[in-house]
Amino acid sequence: MVKARLVGTGSFVPKKVLTNLDLEKMVETSDAWISARTGIRERRIATKDSTSEMAAKAGKAALKAAGVAPKDIDLIVVGTVTPDMTFPSSACFVQSHLGVRSGAAAFDVSAACSGFLYALDVANKYITSGAARKALVIGADRFSRLVDWNDRATCVLFGDGAGAVVLSAEKGGHGVLSCRVHSDGKHWEMLYADSPCPPSPFESRAPRSPYLKMNGNETFKLAVRTMGSAINEVMEETGLKPEDISLLIPHQANLRIINAARERLKLPEDKVFTNLDKYGNTSAGSIPIALDEAVRLGRVKNNDIILFVSFGGGLTWASAAVRW
Ligand code: UT7
Repeated sequence: MVKARLVGTGSFVPKKVLTNLDLEKMVETSDAWISARTGIRERRIATKDSTSEMAAKAGKAALKAAGVAPKDIDLIVVGTVTPDMTFPSSACFVQSHLGVRSGAAAFDVSAACSGFLYALDVANKYITSGAARKALVIGADRFSRLVDWNDRATCVLFGDGAGAVVLSAEKGGHGVLSCRVHSDGKHWEMLYADSPCPPSPFESRAPRSPYLKMNGNETFKLAVRTMGSAINEVMEETGLKPEDISLLIPHQANLRIINAARERLKLPEDKVFTNLDKYGNTSAGSIPIALDEAVRLGRVKNNDIILFVSFGGGLTWASAAVRW
């Protein structure tokens, strides 16, 4: 049986750091409130890099780590809801930035903060079906363009960045063991941003605000519930037990959400990776940036079982189990 093995990771975050203290000067907030309610201390803000440029830098690092040449990539899937343009896709720009061969497939998936795991699921299916041998899977978002910097309820939560993974078709026990993605569109109003397209002159509906809107409390409660059930789903499918898990890498939205999910699973703190204190919620970038950091810190070793779990606008939620 062919599996999609994760053979290299990479990430990119912009240089500009925006701290909680910086935010105190912009909106009615405090470092104490942001740290206590979210665990976030600072985030990165793109000043010149577009989403596809951040994605390409993360992808380049992942290719280098994997020892894979751009010409060998058959498929690029980018999870993002902040593409540079309505079209072409960010994946097409990444293909051009990296010099991936003409004729490879490249497209984006839109699943907000679950974008990376949705992209992983698609690429995994291409590889296990034999439609691709090597794939570049990227999660990238630039939410600094989407948040209202006058709205303290949302602007303190997000940051910009991208992470990437190279998948390679391999026989044996390494790679994606299970990947499950879900959505429930009836809750779309809990977290959304309206279209950046200009209104049509034929439009009868008043245009909504282009900024991100979120019902934080309701999203919080749903996040805790869905993260727990999503993790249980991949554990049941693979027959894994909590003691088999080497590391859980959850979507980095809020430390309180992560801790609630960890307690439900009865996982010790050292088996859950977090870096949201430095980057905030980077949406689709969140999981692959954390994975790359965990790899670089030596927290991911051969044969380790790594779990990923996410939730986001849509609503969408997803989980995956991989053997490293
Ligand atoms: O990837 C998915 C993305 N979304 C999420 O993960 C968001 C999930 N939700 C959350 O993380 C939390 O709901 C928040 C961090 C957004 C908010 O935390 P909370 O504990 O649910 O606070 P709250 O919304 O109940 O607000 C409590 C108080 C309110 O004041 P009053 O009404 O009690 O006087 C807010 O106005 O905190 C106030 N508040 C703030 N105060 C200082 C809201 N934002 C801020 C702020 N600084 N930035």
